[in-house]
Amino acid sequence: MKAADIRSTFLNFFASKGHQIVPSSPVVPGDDPTLLFTNAGMNQFKDVFLGFDKRPYTRATTAQKCIRAGGKHNDLENVGYTARHHTFFEMLGNFSFGDYFKQDAIRYAWELLTEVFKLPKDRLWATVYAEDDEAYEIWTQQIGLPPERVVRIGDNKGARYASDNFWMMGDTGPCGPCSEIFYDFGPSVAGGPPGSPDEDGDRYTEVWNNVFMQFNRRLDENGNYVMDALPKPSVDTGMGLERLARVLQNVPTNYDIDLFVNLMAAARREVEAAGGADIDPDSPSLKAIADHIRACAFTVADGVVPSNEGRGYVLRRIARRAIRHGYKLGARKPFFYKLVAALTEEMGAAYPELVAKQRRVTEVLKQEEERFFQTIAYGMEILEATLVLMTTRGVQVLDGEIAFKLHDTYGFPLDLTADVLRERGLSVDEAGFNAAMARQREQARAAGKFKMAQGLEYSGTPTTFHGYEKLWVEDARVTALYVEGSPVEVVRAGDDAVVVLDNTPFYAESGGQAGDSGFLQNGTARCEVDDTQKIQADVFGHHGRVVEGEIRIGDIIDARVNGVRRAATARNHSVTHLMHKALREVLGNHVQQKGSLVDADKTRFDFAQNAPVTDEQIRKVEEIVNREILTNAATQARVMPIEEAQKTGAMMLFGEKYGDSVRVLDIGSSRELCGGTHVARTGDIGFFKIVMESGVAAGVRRVEAVTGENALRYVLERDAALGVVAAALKAPAGEVPTKLGQTLEHLRALEKELAALKSKLASSQGDALVAQAVEIAGARVLAATLSGADVPALREAVDKLRDKLGSAAVVLAAVNDGKVSLIAGVTANLTGKVKAGDLVNFVAQQIGGKGGGRPDMAQAGGTDAAALPAALAGVKDWVAGKLA
Ligand code: ALA
Repeated sequence: MKAADIRSTFLNFFASKGHQIVPSSPVVPGDDPTLLFTNAGMNQFKDVFLGFDKRPYTRATTAQKCIRAGGKHNDLENVGYTARHHTFFEMLGNFSFGDYFKQDAIRYAWELLTEVFKLPKDRLWATVYAEDDEAYEIWTQQIGLPPERVVRIGDNKGARYASDNFWMMGDTGPCGPCSEIFYDFGPSVAGGPPGSPDEDGDRYTEVWNNVFMQFNRRLDENGNYVMDALPKPSVDTGMGLERLARVLQNVPTNYDIDLFVNLMAAARREVEAAGGADIDPDSPSLKAIADHIRACAFTVADGVVPSNEGRGYVLRRIARRAIRHGYKLGARKPFFYKLVAALTEEMGAAYPELVAKQRRVTEVLKQEEERFFQTIAYGMEILEATLVLMTTRGVQVLDGEIAFKLHDTYGFPLDLTADVLRERGLSVDEAGFNAAMARQREQARAAGKFKMAQGLEYSGTPTTFHGYEKLWVEDARVTALYVEGSPVEVVRAGDDAVVVLDNTPFYAESGGQAGDSGFLQNGTARCEVDDTQKIQADVFGHHGRVVEGEIRIGDIIDARVNGVRRAATARNHSVTHLMHKALREVLGNHVQQKGSLVDADKTRFDFAQNAPVTDEQIRKVEEIVNREILTNAATQARVMPIEEAQKTGAMMLFGEKYGDSVRVLDIGSSRELCGGTHVARTGDIGFFKIVMESGVAAGVRRVEAVTGENALRYVLERDAALGVVAAALKAPAGEVPTKLGQTLEHLRALEKELAALKSKLASSQGDALVAQAVEIAGARVLAATLSGADVPALREAVDKLRDKLGSAAVVLAAVNDGKVSLIAGVTANLTGKVKAGDLVNFVAQQIGGKGGGRPDMAQAGGTDAAALPAALAGVKDWVAGKLA
């Protein structure tokens, strides 16, 4: 029975028992802040259970998209390693809202499983909550399940309601005791019955959970959890579609069911197309990828984009975990987003949103993947190097600081790092990671606190801004003073203070332009201002440090802006208008400002645009803007009512709030509404250069550009670097590209030649090795080192030796830069007794390494080259033991 048929059979069965078939809700719960993702079929009925919402039916049934990758229900770390866990899965459920209760719930479940799906009764087990005598009785007396197959599960870990048989949606919400139904896959699968020490194995798999909803768990006024009885006892059940399919299709894992076969094949194909080779079709990494594309695609289809917090971060973690698994299999360029097509093919019929959103989902995942591929290689190098150190020093737990650095600099979420470590039997110091994270947050907060002008109370005279005309105001009056967020009468030398003046030339940060710096001074006191922020719309706070004397409220003081920085900021701001216009000219009118940050160093401009801006387009923008600079047109600022401004055709930013009268600013041929400070003539900008272009979010690109001195310095530095390259290539600067191309081509030819020589060397050594093979129980066994070989050469030599030796077990080693590579090969007739993976690991574990592969060919590495000869010498006896 195909998964699609199981889905419809389930729904139709409950429809025949008077249940309303209700569509799945999105994986992003509508308005439930307690839930990260939809984690169960009952989520959409939460308020119905609680009695806050009424529906025209009292019985319902659904196939619900669920994600369990964060919050109370989180299976992420198991995915790939067990036969049955997923981040995304479909939950089939039936619900009673104060209608039937335990008895009918259990009866329906039994009827569906044994009469419709025809599962053998003697394979089924049930668990009940330890104190639930009623459910126990129903199972043993009415259904007739033998008592030894009905297990009472109590509260574990000493905590009440921490039982597997007391189900809660989250820390709060509807909950109740439950009864789970297990299927026994038989003794060929490892694992024990529920409640036994090895219950986590795959032999006894929970297929269906029946929850008897009776309580609402909530926080009371004192912050304690309390349980209120629900208005009416209810039923909520959940059966994993993929698990039931595994049972009905009689396949070893959920990943072998029809729903997954094509997805697993697509994952393998795409990873191989991206550089992977010889991928084991059963590899946990492929399973993780096939699982994660479902979670990621459905999450994006329901409106989430990757980010650094909340749902977006869970999405990012899952996507990056999948990408890392692909990387592990050899992918060196994006592959993951390509699986969206295969997934849509597989599940689009049941979930049309996949078809409708296919393009967007592909695009969003592609961008996330491209971004992560920029850093994954560096991150993995650091991690690998650390792992080598850990192994040689016998350290089992990765330092939290390093895990944090991987997170902070290379975008490795903690669970991704933990996943890599787990593959080597190591773990990560999570407390240390959290401490490093907290410390960084604290530092950021301390730095940011000083900026928190918004929280200050002020009710005096507003500030009049004179900064458009002049950089110096004499005789400003101090109207308020603050230290550490509190108003004070006086500030003294050494104080970090916020000073409010009635008149000021200082521009306060707004419209993306940074606040001014400078100083305040009178005959006795001086305060160095490093930033200006608005306390209210027209009240400016000058943030700085008093370095001399004291300043009191009412004092008269001179305020002087740092003119050098202001001029640099003005250049960057004015050029932003020119650049905005040029971008629209070159890329099209869809270019809309999404954010900007202008300070003395640079302008950073975010705008709506799907595709990256090409080098050629960037050059065009630079040309247009620099031409505008050369016209040296005078800047014109006019203040007028907003209606009039609209008629001038000035660019208005969508989502920006404008007052009744606005400032229309003409710079060169651009016209925008803007309150910022600008150059007097475009020529003041000097020179303009774009230094970076990147993506910041789906459909948003970012450019960074510099002007004046900074632009000049940038170009001179580049030119100097080009000079160095030209000298090394012995070519004039203009011919560097051609010369470099030739040099690289030559290099590739040499590499090819070298590889051919290596393989020739290996095969001639291989011929010599045939003679060294010893005969053991009719098989020929060989363990030797091939000098000068690399992994492909080893592989080729092993292949050839296997062919030549007939029935053979071969392991070959090569040492390069102190690192050992191993390849083992076993002829098909022997793999029943000797597995190449075991053979290679027998050697690898003696040289500080680990590996794996197929039964007939496996690969490993190691670091302890000194131990290699002894390890190879032991192979004969080891194989003899296996063949005996
Ligand atoms: N809500 C129950 C579960 O998720 C059925 O297991």
